[in-house]
Amino acid sequence: MLTFTTIASLREHLAGCRTSVNPAPTTGFVPTMGALHEGHLELMRRAKNENSLLVVSIFVNPIQFNNIEDLEKYPRLIEQDSKLLETVGCDVLFAPGVNEMYPKPETAQYDFGLLAQVMEGAARPGHFNGVAIVVRKLFEIVEPDKAYFGEKDFQQLAIIQRLVEICHLPVEIVPCAIVREADGLAMSSRNMRLTPQERAVSTRIYQTLIEAVRLTERNNPAALKQWVVNQLAAEPFFAIDYVEIAEDRLLQPIDTWNPETGCLIFVAVFLGKVRLIDNMRIF
Ligand code: PAF
Repeated sequence: MLTFTTIASLREHLAGCRTSVNPAPTTGFVPTMGALHEGHLELMRRAKNENSLLVVSIFVNPIQFNNIEDLEKYPRLIEQDSKLLETVGCDVLFAPGVNEMYPKPETAQYDFGLLAQVMEGAARPGHFNGVAIVVRKLFEIVEPDKAYFGEKDFQQLAIIQRLVEICHLPVEIVPCAIVREADGLAMSSRNMRLTPQERAVSTRIYQTLIEAVRLTERNNPAALKQWVVNQLAAEPFFAIDYVEIAEDRLLQPIDTWNPETGCLIFVAVFLGKVRLIDNMRIF
């Protein structure tokens, strides 16, 4: 694996790979903020399997954090991450610093309409604009054929699909299923910040979602949402940020079931200072 920290050296290397091999290699790209876990590694295995070149980026993107403490506490584990990347056959790691990515302040403003006004968009103002800026920049630097994103961040995935559409970016977005711990907790770099007690009860998020999907037939969406709220509120370690039952396109709340329209349950819960999100498909 080769590691690059500057845009120019990465571009030069990738251009060399693309001209020296015939047929030109296809590039699979997995953008990350590091603190890699099995969920990331699954995206990478798939990307490696479907492309001749696997490029991974590690960049803790300051402009997508609306909470300074969250940015400061975000784990930075580049040596451990590099070793994990070797195990999945990563060809190229791009790990730029903040000045390399943002030599001057970013002013781009994206309009994702209703999609950005609910759930994570409402709870974390400016978050998706920051994600869109960095992802677009990374796509323009790496020029991947396919880019891989996990469905745990379902709304982020929808935003990136929309970004690709509105900016006509020549990349295929590949959604990948949530990877879970043995007890059901969705894998996340934030999980390592949970205390042992918080970690032990965190599985209730998954158990509640599973049970809620089973109860769909007996409840309308409002009643089911209330049931999920009650279940989560009963756990003293949890502070609910939101619970939503929404359709799978613009992620707007629904008030009746329609099996023809896909829909999911979304939750965001604080355990102490750690905010976890999860979701599960109903239809
Ligand atoms: O999902 C993440 O890790 C980040 O939001 C991403 C897509 C790498 C952009 O910084």
